[in-house]
Amino acid sequence: MSLAENNLDTYWMPFTANRDFKAKPRVITGASGHYYTTENGNKLYDTFSGLWTSGVGHCHPKIVEAVQKQVATLDYCMTFQLTNNKAIELAERVTDMAPNGINHCFFANSGSESVDTALKIALGYHRAKGEGNRTRLIGRERGYHGVNFGGMSVGGMVPNRKAFSANLIPGVDHIRHTHDIERNAFTRGLPLHGAELANDLERLCALHDGSNIAAVIVEPVAGSTGVLPPPVGYLKRLREICDQHGILLIFDEVITAFGRLGAPFAAERFGVTPDIITTAKGLTNGVIPMGAVLVRDSVYDAFMQGPENMIELFHGYTYSGHPVAAAAGLATMDVYDEEGTFEQASGLEQHFEDLLHSFKDQKHVVDVRNFGLMGAIEMAPRDGAAGMRGFEIHKKCFWEENMVVRNGMDVLQFSPFLNSDPDEMEQSFAAIRRVLDSIE
Ligand SMILES: Cc1ncc(COP(=O)(O)O)c(C=O)c1O
Repeated sequence: MSLAENNLDTYWMPFTANRDFKAKPRVITGASGHYYTTENGNKLYDTFSGLWTSGVGHCHPKIVEAVQKQVATLDYCMTFQLTNNKAIELAERVTDMAPNGINHCFFANSGSESVDTALKIALGYHRAKGEGNRTRLIGRERGYHGVNFGGMSVGGMVPNRKAFSANLIPGVDHIRHTHDIERNAFTRGLPLHGAELANDLERLCALHDGSNIAAVIVEPVAGSTGVLPPPVGYLKRLREICDQHGILLIFDEVITAFGRLGAPFAAERFGVTPDIITTAKGLTNGVIPMGAVLVRDSVYDAFMQGPENMIELFHGYTYSGHPVAAAAGLATMDVYDEEGTFEQASGLEQHFEDLLHSFKDQKHVVDVRNFGLMGAIEMAPRDGAAGMRGFEIHKKCFWEENMVVRNGMDVLQFSPFLNSDPDEMEQSFAAIRRVLDSIE
């Protein structure tokens, strides 16, 4: 029986139009390098490297081997009042790559869990310092910080929030987003206009009094909302305002860490150091779910007081620091080092930018944006059918061009492999052009 003939109805798929999908399923059964395979043997080029996850390609032999070895050596180990060697090693490895002063790592299992962990750490930090009044959390419109209640509340994606509006966590506010298509359309790299939007944080400090604000969380480059690079100077200005008011700055680097911007972290690329970094995805090349929260010494130290036999942070997951995930993480870090992945990614940026911006005069296209190896082509929505054009392109790419292309509504998003072959990249964009030419 082919997979498609199974009773697909039992499987409730995430962030998917279930009924449309099940009428004609798109099912992957294998992967290698830059390609997926389907059950009938079709090879599909993956323009999204998983879901921003798999920068060094699918089934990288070194990571596969490390996981196989680990699962046969230590499959699981409680990490409450006990731990495993791999979690210790990975914490050290990752903090070594982090900006100076960020030397502590708490493990979670996803980006969403990392974000909710970071928000709790921020609240606990202020409380430990005797500033328990600092409870307000600030996110940004069009931000995406996962789907748990904390992340959803500080997030600014309307469809994700709409159904839960009355139950979002209290004490949250949002600064304005930076997407300004009128002034910045078709900018290559960072938009020139909009640094002043960071001053919106001053407005919220005036409204709530800065002394009541615990933390501000932003993605250095917003990803899931359609790739929004920050305007030149914007992140530095946010840092300044946070410093003036004693507010913690959290960078959500679930996408932007581990080479996506040609550096270990976006913080390094932008020369702006936050107090807390959340990450996931490229931490294990997507092979085993894992997230991490990296914190400044001063944040960690604030918790390390009181009787030494007491738990300092009442928080953790059964799988925090899972040994198999940690082994995948360590092997991934080895690959990054040995193959020079971050340099490879930097070397591809210009080619990627040129390919993307060649769509400037294409029918329906209203903006093209890029930074590092993150890119987007935004199309005008159809009258009364927002998102249909993008969805149709996703499906046509799959069925007619053997390619996986991600759309968020009418924005095509691109997350090429950090070790992409420039020719393959070029061919994939030629195929996208054929599809764009063919749709209304
Ligand atoms: C910036 C950011 N934060 C959080 C998340 C949530 O991560 P996860 O889906 O692993 O929970 C994502 C996922 O794309 C993300 O891009």
